[in-house]
Amino acid sequence: MFTFHAGGATGATLFLLLCVAQPGVARPATAGAEDPDTRAARVESQLTDDERFGLISGIMPIPLAGLTRPIPAGVPVTAGFVRGVPRLGLPDLLATDASLGVTNPFQLRVGDGATALPSGLAIAATFDPALAERAGAMVAREARARGFNILLGGGINLAFDPRNGRNFEYLGEDPLLAGRMAGAAIRGTQSQGVVSTIKHFALNAQESHRQTLDAVMDESALREGELLAFQIGIETGRPGAVMCAYNLLNGAKSCGHAWLLDRVLKGDWRYPGWVMSDWGAVDDASFFAKGLDQQSGRELDRDAWFDAPLRARIARGEIPRSRLSDAVRRILRSVYAVGADRAPDPAPIDAQAHAEVALEVARRGIVLLKNDALLPIDPATRSILVVGEHADFGVLSGGGSSQVTPANGAPRIVELGGDGPLAAFARRLYMRSSPLAALRALLPGTLVEFDSGYVPATAAARARRHDLVIVFVNRWEGETFDSPSLDLPLGQDELVRQLAAANPRTIVVLQTGNPVAMPWLGQVRGVVQAWYSGQEGGRAIAEVLAGRVNPSGRLPISFPRSLDSQPRRDLPGLGLPPRTAVRAEYPEGSDPGYRRLARSGETPLFAFGHGLSYTRFAQQDLRVIAHRPLTLSLVVRNLGARAGDEVAQVYLVKRDDERLQRLVGFERVSLQPGESRQVTVTVDDRLLGEFGDGRWQVAAGVYRFAAGRSAVDLGAPVPARLGARSRGP
Ligand code: BGC
Repeated sequence: MFTFHAGGATGATLFLLLCVAQPGVARPATAGAEDPDTRAARVESQLTDDERFGLISGIMPIPLAGLTRPIPAGVPVTAGFVRGVPRLGLPDLLATDASLGVTNPFQLRVGDGATALPSGLAIAATFDPALAERAGAMVAREARARGFNILLGGGINLAFDPRNGRNFEYLGEDPLLAGRMAGAAIRGTQSQGVVSTIKHFALNAQESHRQTLDAVMDESALREGELLAFQIGIETGRPGAVMCAYNLLNGAKSCGHAWLLDRVLKGDWRYPGWVMSDWGAVDDASFFAKGLDQQSGRELDRDAWFDAPLRARIARGEIPRSRLSDAVRRILRSVYAVGADRAPDPAPIDAQAHAEVALEVARRGIVLLKNDALLPIDPATRSILVVGEHADFGVLSGGGSSQVTPANGAPRIVELGGDGPLAAFARRLYMRSSPLAALRALLPGTLVEFDSGYVPATAAARARRHDLVIVFVNRWEGETFDSPSLDLPLGQDELVRQLAAANPRTIVVLQTGNPVAMPWLGQVRGVVQAWYSGQEGGRAIAEVLAGRVNPSGRLPISFPRSLDSQPRRDLPGLGLPPRTAVRAEYPEGSDPGYRRLARSGETPLFAFGHGLSYTRFAQQDLRVIAHRPLTLSLVVRNLGARAGDEVAQVYLVKRDDERLQRLVGFERVSLQPGESRQVTVTVDDRLLGEFGDGRWQVAAGVYRFAAGRSAVDLGAPVPARLGARSRGP
């Protein structure tokens, strides 16, 4: 959520400010037919300079001692506030985090819970853009009902490192998947009159030292990977704002990066919206000249750069006045394009319908990684031991600014303690959705007992007496910190080992924000990746285990065997004092995850795209049906006896003799037993080619494609001879 500048508010304490709802501001009657650009230009021309400067900088209205700024009366506790211009019908801009539900920082809005979705990786694992769109709309309805008109959603940084504490918030390692899913969620959000961001632009690939870390990658590689994810997300969702990142990129701070913001985003991509900074990511007023339009949470920076210092620079002629109008117009046009100036909808929230969205995402996002014939649980099973701390109560969630206070009852919070203001983030929050209770309800004829696993030997002794053991293991991850390894914390690997030794019929449920190593994999009969499953997660997990739901999630991130072969064996900067300048090189370039593994020939523990089902599918008859745009079709069949969902995945696997791999299309299909469906995939030229000389270039040659169930489980490749083609940036 925030980071303090050097010398900031150490030892700060929180105190309470009560939320007062923001009154809506009606749209002026004259504005009806104007397009957003014309309207933005007209309104901007009527503003005073004070109003213009007011719009380009915001505060963080969270009452934290040590941050000296007045919070205007009536402003609720939330991430961002920018004063509007009521005389021209422009409401205050009230921003809330974010993609997994409307947040309530430190629960300071007393009693204000919101529907809590599963984590971003779970959303991505659905491979279901339509569901992501529903989820985005659901969150926006809850935002609007509270008077928020900006959602700081759209987290899309690609997973370059399985230790990144924020991977759980994002959408995995593939630019097409992440871009389509983020774009769909943003479209859903903005359909409800709430502006969405896409963030954090760009290459914010780890949390440690995030404000002093220089992420290094060459331009073509950036364009073909991380930036392509943003580009697809922006084209699909048309977010009103882009949030630039904390980190440096190739030597310059992302929020003051002329190449990134002015040249690529606003120039090459013709992005019409505004760039807002991350909270505390602005170093000086010159960032304005480099493409940053708005300083967010300005009290977290060393100065309110976009106020007096910027006024002085413009007055001295160092930055043209036209740039001020440009920044303001960008903000206004996004607000108008989305309809974020409309008064909040007074219609009550349908909590039940919203909970169903969270439940559906959890059901479709849970990934069955391994199943050695024990799942689904046989209803005739006499007794089950459920092991794992808090599995009797609920499910784990990820920490940081995206942490939602769930709507379905008081969560269980385990404080981890620590010093400084960020200690407030150090708390594991379990949402009230008991997998134990849900299993008992689904298996009425089975004795289901519980052991916390606190003493592994005791749990193992009990495990011997049961027909089946289901152990929940957790790794809490979150914003501001990374994991140093792929291990489970708190001796849980040892717990699993002891349980599996005591009872070979052991199933593991993982609640993690990233891949983990699973040294016990060979000893257990099943593994379910539940991610952080949201406020309805316990039920969804139980439904998958008991077979009420046929698992259909697919991995949006590769699970490596170890860190030994990772491009960065040690996490850059690990253990160095805060605010140390750290350089992180990304030699894998556009190819994190499976795309890198395909080039090196290494096999992962579990591949991108992998996910088992209780039925069997075939993906057959892949053919090229058109060359321009390149279009392929295939047939997906359900060969088993149960209805289920399959994700058709089409990859580019070879370009002439070059070994490479890129997901070029996917589609989730629901099939009854025996049913088959033809799937058609149109391939974006950017996924075929390379970026060079300011353009996307596709060289003439033979391109081979394969379809299948994961990046390593593919049918025979099919060739397509393509002529050279190129397109603008
Ligand atoms: C995070 C952003 C978030 C912002 C406001 C920052 O620390 O990086 O993702 O939107 O805080 O809470």
